[in-house]
Amino acid sequence: MEVVIAPAEELAVLAADAIEALLRRRADTVLGLATGSSPLKVYDELARRHAEEGLSFAEARGFMLDEYVGLDADHPERYRNVIATEIAERVAWPAERVQGPDGLAADLPAACAAYEEAIRAAGGVDLQILGIGTDGHIAFNEPGSSLASRTRIKTLTKQTREDNARFFDGDVDRVPTHCLTQGLGTIMDARHLVLLATGRHKAEAVHQLVEGPVSALWPATVMQLHPHATVLVDEAAASRLQLADYYRQTYASKPSWQGL
Ligand code: F6R
Repeated sequence: MEVVIAPAEELAVLAADAIEALLRRRADTVLGLATGSSPLKVYDELARRHAEEGLSFAEARGFMLDEYVGLDADHPERYRNVIATEIAERVAWPAERVQGPDGLAADLPAACAAYEEAIRAAGGVDLQILGIGTDGHIAFNEPGSSLASRTRIKTLTKQTREDNARFFDGDVDRVPTHCLTQGLGTIMDARHLVLLATGRHKAEAVHQLVEGPVSALWPATVMQLHPHATVLVDEAAASRLQLADYYRQTYASKPSWQGL
């Protein structure tokens, strides 16, 4: 696992560089998309590169991590709509090439199985962007999630609903109680995991993710078992890392040809 500690703007550029390198190598790259605040600067940087440098998403495929259950099709916080606004429409990504789990399906387990099959049929995810919850979730795999889990319905914790109330006018009662989420096993199938975290409120989760024992109590710790995982954090999110100096030293002496 590689840990890079840098200001948020630099982290966004690093993540965008990795995505651009993939897209330039193979136009039909498969990207895994996260919602929430953490990837927003990356999406801004990709939108800039699309507008100013012609970076094309026309043949790429996108798979979202998760979706709330039961939000109306036109609800602005429905993740499908968030992804359309934050990234897909800004880079002229054809709508049919970006998919998410269907939180409005009449048969939710069947929708989850179909989503797993769609990812498989696309050849799997090349690079998965991730954020982390203050309780250590990735996607919406809350504490206690099976480390081998696949796409399924989950109940959101009180903590996650409180954290996300800011997107619902601060009203926790308006945050859905359930979601469909890629499982930890699904995420672990992606070929490269790139997690972004900024702010002191993420420091404990980041410490556990990188340095804690692998445990369902801190679901993101499963990433320690991934052969290609990159953790991009600012100083505040890195503030509880025991080996922060070593991570800094390693990154400072990294050969420039290596990339993330
Ligand atoms: C969203 C997702 C979540 C968020 C996490 C952090 O698709 O999968 O795991 O990444 O809740 O959210 P932010 O980035 O808003 O702090």
